[in-house]
Amino acid sequence: MMEKNLTRREFLVGTGSFAAGAAVGAVLGGGVFGLLDVQAAETVAPPAPWKYVKLDPEVVRKKGWEMYWQGGCMKGAAGAIITELQEKVGFPYTMLPLEVFRYGSAGIGGWGTICGAANGAAYAMGLVLPNADISTLVSELLGWYSETALPTYKHDAYAKYPTTVQSVAGNPLCHTSVSKWCDASGLREDSDERKDRCAKITGDSAARAVELLNAYFDKTFAPVYKISAETESCRACHVTRMSDTLTKMECAPCHPNAHKK
Ligand code: HEC
Ligand code: HEC
Repeated sequence: MMEKNLTRREFLVGTGSFAAGAAVGAVLGGGVFGLLDVQAAETVAPPAPWKYVKLDPEVVRKKGWEMYWQGGCMKGAAGAIITELQEKVGFPYTMLPLEVFRYGSAGIGGWGTICGAANGAAYAMGLVLPNADISTLVSELLGWYSETALPTYKHDAYAKYPTTVQSVAGNPLCHTSVSKWCDASGLREDSDERKDRCAKITGDSAARAVELLNAYFDKTFAPVYKISAETESCRACHVTRMSDTLTKMECAPCHPNAHKK
C-alpha cells in the first residue's frame, strides 16, 4: 500500500501542499475514493531516510540567516534545509512543524549546550541519510563547526553587520562559541551584533550540511576532520581502554590540568 501511495505521490511531486495533492488525486482517482487514498498517503510519514535532492548551499546559507530572525538558530538551520526540500520534494517534508525547533535556541533553552545551528543542520542530515552514515557525516559537521573561523563572510551582501569579527569555537557548544566570540569582538552577548553573528553561523551550518550531503549523494564525500593527537591520546585511555568518557571534543580546554598535579 505504501509503495502504491508513494508512486502516486511521485506523480504529484511539485504540487506541494496536501490540498493541491488531494485535488489532483480526486480528479485522477475519480471521486471520493481517490481523495481518501491520497489523504492516507499524505498523513503517514514514510520511514527515514527521506528522498534528498541536491540543494544549492548558497541559497540555504542565505535562508538560514533569514530564518534565524524568525525563531532562532536551530529553527533557522533545520528550516533552511527543510523548506528547500519542501519546495523541491514536497511530501513528507511538508509534514514537519518547524516551530518545534525553537527548543534548540541558545544551546537548548538557553543552556549553552550544543549550538542550535549545528543541531538543526544535523537534524536535517538525519532525515536523509541511512542510519549507518548519520554519525560519520554529523561528526564531520561538528568537527567543521569546532575548528572553522566563523561566521564566514559569505553573508556580507545582506547581513546587518558585514565583515564581523570571526572566532574559532573549539567545540560545538553554544556557550564556548558565543563567549569566545564575545572575547574576540569585545561585544556583549545581548548585542544585535552577536545575534547577527549567530544568524550568519545558522546559515553557514546549514550550507555546510548541504555541501556534505551533496558530496555524499555524489559519492565524493571523504571525511577531513581529525581529532587532535593530544585528545586522541586521552581518548586511548578514557574512551577506549577505561571507557569512562564519551566525547570527541578537545579535552584540554576543559581539563587543562589533567594528570599534571
Ligand atoms: C595512560 C592512560 C591515560 C591517559 C593517556 C590519560 N588518562 Fe586521564 N586518567 C587515567 C586514570 C587511570 C585516571 C584515574 C582514574 C579515574 O579517575 O578514573 C585518570 C583520571 C583523569 C581525570 C580525573 C582526575 C583528575 O585528574 O581530575 C581526568 C579529568 C582525566 N584523567 C583527563 C585526561 C585527559 C584530558 C587526558 C589527555 C590529556 C588524559 N586524561 C589522559 C588514565 C589516563
Ligand atoms: C566542555 C568541557 C569538557 C570537555 C571538552 C571534556 N570534559 Fe571531561 N569533564 C568536564 C566536566 C565539567 C566534568 C565534571 C568535573 C567535576 O564535576 O568535577 C568532567 C569530568 C571528566 C572526568 C571525570 C572526572 C573525575 O573527577 O573523575 C573524566 C575522566 C573526563 N572528564 C575526561 C575527559 C576527556 C578524556 C575528555 C576529552 C576526550 C574530556 N573529559 C572533555 C568537562 C569537559
